[in-house]
Amino acid sequence: MFESFRDGLRAAVIGSTGGIGGAFVRHLEQDARVASILATSRSPREGGGKVCTIVLDTADEAGIERAAEKAGALDLVIVATGILSDGDALRPEKSWRQLDPQAMSRVLAVNTIGPALIAKHFLGKLAKDEKSVFASLSARVGSIEDNRLGGWHAYRASKAALNQLIRTLSIELRVRNPGAVICGLHPGTVDTALSRPFQNNVPEERLFTAEKSTARMLAVLDHLGPEQSGGLYAYDGTRIPF
Ligand SMILES: NC(=O)c1ccc[n+]([C@@H]2O[C@H](COP(=O)([O-])OP(=O)(O)OC[C@H]3O[C@@H](n4cnc5c(N)ncnc54)[C@H](OP(=O)(O)O)[C@@H]3O)[C@@H](O)[C@H]2O)c1
Repeated sequence: MFESFRDGLRAAVIGSTGGIGGAFVRHLEQDARVASILATSRSPREGGGKVCTIVLDTADEAGIERAAEKAGALDLVIVATGILSDGDALRPEKSWRQLDPQAMSRVLAVNTIGPALIAKHFLGKLAKDEKSVFASLSARVGSIEDNRLGGWHAYRASKAALNQLIRTLSIELRVRNPGAVICGLHPGTVDTALSRPFQNNVPEERLFTAEKSTARMLAVLDHLGPEQSGGLYAYDGTRIPF
């Protein structure tokens, strides 16, 4: 893997306690071409070997700034944070009648504003001399074009807004760092805490392990070049319309 990146790749994974974030860290750790991984989490975790851990809550901009300073130059940044429900008051809406301003604010804060603040402080850390990538976990349900089922209003809106931010940031990044790529990623339906309450109607063959999904997404990132910056890509490399 990572044929298009420099040997000695320096990576950061934001949200390393998540099902998907954790699997990204494990893949990167096992790859001989990866030199270092900055793994962030909301509560302290043990690092070791190539993995350096740091506490980061995407709601705390000062903490994000400190983490970015600690990171130094990076070749790959993956934002794997996100929220859909919390097993309590926060549930994806089935109707407009369930729209709740507090729940919506929370979803937008984690899924949209959080990754935007990570971009604000980490995009400037992307290497300019070799290929570099900033990828944020989005979701196919954030595609306006693809929305035929309705429902999940806040989650869909948070990811649609994230997709728009990615496109907007890509235009600015092209000027500041023409070789760099910023993109959204759709991981498929992945067996994690986030999807577990909603897996009932998912056929077995369409429910991926985090290991499988992240391996495929890393292969996608390896193939993307600056001409593909600003898009949303599924785990199989197809571009999803906004
Ligand atoms: N699983 C799927 O089927 C699926 C499908 C489409 C898209 N996605 C997207 O993939 C991403 C990862 O999802 P997942 O399935 O791995 O979910 P997950 O297992 O629930 O992990 C979510 C991660 O987000 C972190 N997080 C939440 N709020 C945060 C905050 N304020 N600051 C920092 N970290 C925060 C969590 O940290 P804590 O451990 O501290 O709570 C956890 O590490 C999300 O953006 C999700 O929308 C997932």
